[in-house]
Amino acid sequence: YLDNGNQIFKDARKNHYAVGAYNTNNLEWTRAILQAAEETRTPVLIQVSMGAAKYMGGYKIAKDIVEDSMDAMDISVPVVLNLDHGDFEAAKECIALGYSSVMFDGHALPTDENLAKTKEIVKLAHERGISVEAEIGKIGENQGAEGGELASVEDAKAFVAAGVDKLACGIGNIHGVYPADWKGLNFDRLKEIADAVSVPLVLHGGSGIPEEQVKKAISLGISKVNINTEFQLAFQKATREYFEAHKDEDKANKGYDPRKLLLPGTEAITDAMKEMITWLGTPSID
Ligand code: G3H
Ligand code: ZN
Repeated sequence: YLDNGNQIFKDARKNHYAVGAYNTNNLEWTRAILQAAEETRTPVLIQVSMGAAKYMGGYKIAKDIVEDSMDAMDISVPVVLNLDHGDFEAAKECIALGYSSVMFDGHALPTDENLAKTKEIVKLAHERGISVEAEIGKIGENQGAEGGELASVEDAKAFVAAGVDKLACGIGNIHGVYPADWKGLNFDRLKEIADAVSVPLVLHGGSGIPEEQVKKAISLGISKVNINTEFQLAFQKATREYFEAHKDEDKANKGYDPRKLLLPGTEAITDAMKEMITWLGTPSID
Protein backbone atom coordinates (compact mmCIF):
# COMPACT_ATOMS: atom_id res chain seq x y z
CA TYR A 1 0.00 0.00 0.00
CA LEU A 2 1.54 3.25 -1.17
CA ASP A 3 1.53 6.44 0.90
CA ASN A 4 0.87 9.79 -0.81
CA GLY A 5 3.50 11.42 1.37
CA ASN A 6 1.44 14.48 2.30
CA GLN A 7 1.76 13.94 6.03
CA ILE A 8 5.36 12.78 5.75
CA PHE A 9 6.56 15.87 3.91
CA LYS A 10 4.45 18.29 5.94
CA ASP A 11 6.02 16.89 9.08
CA ALA A 12 9.46 17.20 7.49
CA ARG A 13 8.92 20.86 6.63
CA LYS A 14 7.54 21.60 10.08
CA ASN A 15 10.39 19.90 11.89
CA HIS A 16 13.25 20.92 9.61
CA TYR A 17 14.40 17.64 8.19
CA ALA A 18 14.06 16.13 4.73
CA VAL A 19 13.02 12.83 3.24
CA GLY A 20 14.99 11.52 0.29
CA ALA A 21 13.43 10.97 -3.11
CA TYR A 22 15.43 8.34 -4.88
CA ASN A 23 15.19 7.44 -8.55
CA THR A 24 14.88 3.81 -9.51
CA ASN A 25 15.92 2.18 -12.77
CA ASN A 26 15.20 -1.50 -12.29
CA LEU A 27 14.64 -4.27 -9.79
CA GLU A 28 18.10 -3.98 -8.23
CA TRP A 29 17.77 -0.23 -7.68
CA THR A 30 14.31 -0.65 -6.21
CA ARG A 31 15.39 -3.34 -3.80
CA ALA A 32 18.50 -1.39 -2.77
CA ILE A 33 16.38 1.68 -1.94
CA LEU A 34 13.74 -0.29 -0.05
CA GLN A 35 16.46 -2.14 1.85
CA ALA A 36 18.07 1.08 3.10
CA ALA A 37 14.68 2.52 4.08
CA GLU A 38 13.70 -0.59 6.00
CA GLU A 39 17.08 -0.94 7.75
CA THR A 40 17.01 2.69 8.88
CA ARG A 41 13.26 2.57 9.62
CA THR A 42 12.73 5.78 7.67
CA PRO A 43 9.99 6.72 5.21
CA VAL A 44 11.07 6.80 1.59
CA LEU A 45 9.99 8.17 -1.76
CA ILE A 46 10.86 6.09 -4.80
CA GLN A 47 10.53 7.89 -8.07
CA VAL A 48 10.35 6.87 -11.68
CA SER A 49 11.40 9.26 -14.43
CA MET A 50 9.89 9.04 -17.89
CA GLY A 51 13.20 7.68 -19.19
CA ALA A 52 13.46 5.06 -16.46
CA ALA A 53 9.86 3.96 -17.09
CA LYS A 54 10.64 3.57 -20.77
CA TYR A 55 13.72 1.53 -19.88
CA MET A 56 11.71 -0.71 -17.54
CA GLY A 57 8.93 -1.29 -20.04
CA GLY A 58 6.38 1.23 -18.82
CA TYR A 59 4.84 2.89 -15.77
CA LYS A 60 2.81 -0.17 -14.88
CA ILE A 61 5.83 -2.49 -14.69
CA ALA A 62 7.75 0.12 -12.71
CA LYS A 63 4.89 0.32 -10.20
CA ASP A 64 4.57 -3.46 -10.02
CA ILE A 65 8.29 -3.80 -9.33
CA VAL A 66 8.03 -1.37 -6.43
CA GLU A 67 4.84 -2.86 -4.94
CA ASP A 68 5.81 -6.48 -5.41
CA SER A 69 9.25 -5.80 -3.92
CA MET A 70 7.60 -4.15 -0.91
CA ASP A 71 5.55 -7.30 -0.41
CA ALA A 72 8.41 -9.71 -0.99
CA MET A 73 10.71 -7.78 1.34
CA ASP A 74 8.05 -7.23 4.01
CA ILE A 75 8.58 -3.50 3.94
CA SER A 76 6.96 -1.85 6.96
CA VAL A 77 8.05 1.79 6.52
CA PRO A 78 5.90 4.20 4.46
CA VAL A 79 6.73 4.22 0.74
CA VAL A 80 5.66 6.95 -1.67
CA LEU A 81 5.75 6.18 -5.40
CA ASN A 82 6.24 9.33 -7.45
CA LEU A 83 6.42 10.07 -11.16
CA ASP A 84 9.52 12.26 -11.54
CA HIS A 85 9.54 15.12 -14.10
CA GLY A 86 6.43 13.89 -15.86
CA ASP A 87 4.88 15.61 -18.83
CA PHE A 88 1.10 16.07 -18.96
CA GLU A 89 0.37 12.68 -20.55
CA ALA A 90 2.72 10.79 -18.23
CA ALA A 91 1.17 12.46 -15.19
CA LYS A 92 -2.32 11.47 -16.32
CA GLU A 93 -1.19 7.90 -17.00
CA CYS A 94 0.43 7.54 -13.57
CA ILE A 95 -2.63 9.00 -11.85
CA ALA A 96 -4.79 6.42 -13.63
CA LEU A 97 -2.37 3.64 -12.65
CA GLY A 98 -2.44 4.61 -8.98
CA TYR A 99 0.96 6.13 -8.38
CA SER A 100 0.60 7.85 -5.01
CA SER A 101 2.34 11.03 -6.16
CA VAL A 102 3.12 12.70 -9.46
CA MET A 103 5.38 15.53 -10.47
CA PHE A 104 4.05 17.50 -13.39
CA ASP A 105 7.05 19.31 -14.82
CA GLY A 106 5.81 22.16 -16.97
CA HIS A 107 8.92 24.31 -16.53
CA ALA A 108 9.55 24.49 -20.27
CA LEU A 109 6.05 25.87 -20.92
CA PRO A 110 5.08 29.52 -20.62
CA THR A 111 4.17 30.12 -16.95
CA ASP A 112 0.45 30.56 -17.68
CA GLU A 113 0.32 27.24 -19.45
CA ASN A 114 2.40 25.50 -16.79
CA LEU A 115 -0.04 26.83 -14.20
CA ALA A 116 -3.16 25.85 -16.17
CA LYS A 117 -1.90 22.31 -16.82
CA THR A 118 -0.74 21.97 -13.21
CA LYS A 119 -4.28 22.84 -12.09
CA GLU A 120 -5.72 20.11 -14.30
CA ILE A 121 -3.31 17.57 -12.88
CA VAL A 122 -4.08 18.71 -9.33
CA LYS A 123 -7.78 18.16 -9.95
CA LEU A 124 -7.33 14.66 -11.39
CA ALA A 125 -4.82 13.67 -8.72
CA HIS A 126 -6.64 15.05 -5.70
CA GLU A 127 -9.85 13.27 -6.66
CA ARG A 128 -7.89 10.09 -6.09
CA GLY A 129 -5.89 11.15 -3.04
CA ILE A 130 -2.70 11.45 -5.07
CA SER A 131 -0.26 14.26 -4.29
CA VAL A 132 1.23 16.66 -6.84
CA GLU A 133 4.60 18.35 -7.21
CA ALA A 134 5.13 21.19 -9.67
CA GLU A 135 8.27 22.92 -10.92
CA ILE A 136 8.86 26.65 -11.07
CA GLY A 137 11.94 28.41 -12.38
CA LYS A 138 14.33 25.97 -13.98
CA ILE A 139 16.62 23.28 -12.61
CA GLY A 140 19.86 23.54 -14.59
CA GLU A 141 21.06 20.65 -16.74
CA ASN A 142 24.78 20.02 -16.62
CA GLN A 143 24.79 17.51 -19.45
CA GLY A 144 22.09 19.28 -21.42
CA ALA A 145 23.84 22.65 -21.11
CA GLU A 146 20.51 24.17 -20.03
CA GLY A 147 21.09 27.00 -17.58
CA GLY A 148 19.01 27.13 -14.45
CA GLU A 149 16.58 29.92 -13.68
CA LEU A 150 15.60 31.15 -10.24
CA ALA A 151 12.01 30.50 -9.22
CA SER A 152 10.06 33.64 -8.34
CA VAL A 153 8.10 34.21 -5.15
CA GLU A 154 5.13 35.25 -7.28
CA ASP A 155 5.11 31.90 -9.12
CA ALA A 156 5.49 30.04 -5.84
CA LYS A 157 2.36 31.72 -4.48
CA ALA A 158 0.39 31.11 -7.69
CA PHE A 159 1.27 27.40 -7.83
CA VAL A 160 0.47 26.87 -4.18
CA ALA A 161 -2.86 28.63 -4.72
CA ALA A 162 -3.41 26.16 -7.58
CA GLY A 163 -3.29 23.39 -5.00
CA VAL A 164 0.13 21.76 -5.42
CA ASP A 165 1.32 19.74 -2.46
CA LYS A 166 5.04 20.19 -3.07
CA LEU A 167 7.02 22.73 -4.99
CA ALA A 168 10.29 22.19 -6.85
CA CYS A 169 12.08 25.52 -7.16
CA GLY A 170 15.01 26.52 -9.29
CA ILE A 171 17.48 27.95 -6.74
CA GLY A 172 20.75 27.48 -8.59
CA ASN A 173 20.55 23.69 -8.41
CA ILE A 174 21.59 21.54 -11.36
CA HIS A 175 20.81 17.97 -12.43
CA GLY A 176 23.76 15.64 -12.88
CA VAL A 177 27.37 16.28 -11.84
CA TYR A 178 27.97 19.86 -10.66
CA PRO A 179 30.49 21.84 -12.70
CA ALA A 180 33.69 22.95 -10.95
CA ASP A 181 32.68 26.63 -11.20
CA TRP A 182 29.20 26.15 -9.72
CA LYS A 183 28.07 29.18 -7.74
CA GLY A 184 26.18 27.26 -5.04
CA LEU A 185 22.55 27.38 -3.97
CA ASN A 186 20.74 30.70 -3.76
CA PHE A 187 19.69 30.72 -0.11
CA ASP A 188 18.25 34.23 -0.27
CA ARG A 189 15.71 33.17 -2.88
CA LEU A 190 15.00 29.93 -1.07
CA LYS A 191 14.27 31.87 2.11
CA GLU A 192 11.99 34.33 0.31
CA ILE A 193 9.99 31.46 -1.17
CA ALA A 194 9.90 29.55 2.11
CA ASP A 195 8.63 32.68 3.90
CA ALA A 196 5.89 33.11 1.30
CA VAL A 197 4.53 29.54 1.10
CA SER A 198 4.23 26.78 3.65
CA VAL A 199 4.18 23.71 1.38
CA PRO A 200 7.18 21.36 1.48
CA LEU A 201 9.86 22.57 -0.95
CA VAL A 202 11.83 20.20 -3.15
CA LEU A 203 15.52 20.31 -3.93
CA HIS A 204 16.21 18.67 -7.29
CA GLY A 205 19.74 17.85 -8.37
CA GLY A 206 20.60 16.73 -4.85
CA SER A 207 23.68 14.75 -5.93
CA GLY A 208 27.00 16.45 -5.37
CA ILE A 209 25.82 19.42 -3.30
CA PRO A 210 28.15 19.86 -0.30
CA GLU A 211 26.72 18.61 2.98
CA GLU A 212 26.57 22.07 4.64
CA GLN A 213 24.57 23.47 1.74
CA VAL A 214 22.14 20.56 1.82
CA LYS A 215 21.67 21.05 5.56
CA LYS A 216 21.23 24.80 5.28
CA ALA A 217 18.65 24.34 2.52
CA ILE A 218 16.75 21.91 4.76
CA SER A 219 16.85 24.35 7.67
CA LEU A 220 15.22 26.94 5.36
CA GLY A 221 12.31 24.78 4.15
CA ILE A 222 13.56 22.07 1.78
CA SER A 223 11.75 18.88 2.81
CA LYS A 224 12.36 16.57 -0.14
CA VAL A 225 15.80 16.06 -1.66
CA ASN A 226 15.99 14.31 -5.02
CA ILE A 227 18.93 12.00 -5.58
CA ASN A 228 19.68 10.18 -8.78
CA THR A 229 23.21 10.72 -10.10
CA GLU A 230 24.79 9.97 -6.70
CA PHE A 231 23.52 6.40 -6.79
CA GLN A 232 24.50 5.95 -10.42
CA LEU A 233 28.05 6.98 -9.53
CA ALA A 234 28.08 4.67 -6.49
CA PHE A 235 26.77 1.79 -8.60
CA GLN A 236 29.30 2.44 -11.35
CA LYS A 237 32.25 2.68 -8.97
CA ALA A 238 31.46 -0.51 -7.07
CA THR A 239 30.68 -2.39 -10.28
CA ARG A 240 33.90 -1.24 -11.93
CA GLU A 241 35.97 -2.22 -8.91
CA TYR A 242 34.33 -5.63 -8.82
CA PHE A 243 34.90 -6.17 -12.52
CA GLU A 244 38.55 -5.17 -12.18
CA ALA A 245 39.13 -7.39 -9.15
CA HIS A 246 37.36 -10.38 -10.68
CA LYS A 247 38.26 -10.09 -14.31
CA ASP A 248 40.21 -13.33 -14.36
CA GLU A 249 37.47 -15.43 -12.83
CA ASP A 250 36.93 -18.44 -14.99
CA LYS A 251 33.85 -20.39 -15.85
CA ALA A 252 34.37 -22.69 -12.90
CA ASN A 253 33.77 -19.75 -10.56
CA LYS A 254 30.74 -18.62 -12.52
CA GLY A 255 32.30 -15.20 -12.94
CA TYR A 256 29.65 -14.50 -15.56
CA ASP A 257 26.70 -14.86 -13.17
CA PRO A 258 24.69 -11.61 -13.31
CA ARG A 259 23.58 -12.14 -9.74
CA LYS A 260 27.22 -11.82 -8.72
CA LEU A 261 28.03 -9.04 -11.14
CA LEU A 262 25.18 -6.77 -10.04
CA LEU A 263 25.45 -7.34 -6.30
CA PRO A 264 28.32 -4.96 -5.35
CA GLY A 265 26.72 -2.05 -7.18
CA THR A 266 23.37 -2.79 -5.61
CA GLU A 267 24.89 -2.86 -2.12
CA ALA A 268 26.71 0.39 -2.86
CA ILE A 269 23.34 2.08 -3.51
CA THR A 270 22.02 0.94 -0.14
CA ASP A 271 25.17 2.25 1.58
CA ALA A 272 25.04 5.59 -0.26
CA MET A 273 21.40 6.01 0.70
CA LYS A 274 22.04 5.28 4.36
CA GLU A 275 24.65 8.02 4.40
CA MET A 276 22.29 10.42 2.65
CA ILE A 277 19.62 9.75 5.27
CA THR A 278 22.01 11.01 7.96
CA TRP A 279 22.60 14.21 5.97
CA LEU A 280 18.87 14.75 5.57
CA GLY A 281 18.18 14.05 9.24
CA THR A 282 15.26 11.79 8.39
CA PRO A 283 14.05 10.41 11.73
CA SER A 284 13.26 6.75 12.26
CA ILE A 285 9.55 6.13 12.58
CA ASP A 286 9.80 4.21 15.84
O1 G3H B 1 14.50 14.53 -10.27
C1 G3H B 1 15.57 13.96 -9.99
C2 G3H B 1 16.64 14.68 -9.36
O2 G3H B 1 16.49 16.02 -9.41
C3 G3H B 1 17.98 14.05 -9.37
O3 G3H B 1 19.06 14.90 -9.64
O4 G3H B 1 20.63 13.27 -10.62
O5 G3H B 1 21.40 15.48 -9.88
O6 G3H B 1 20.72 13.78 -8.21
P1 G3H B 1 20.53 14.32 -9.57
ZN1 ZN C 1 14.91 16.60 -10.91
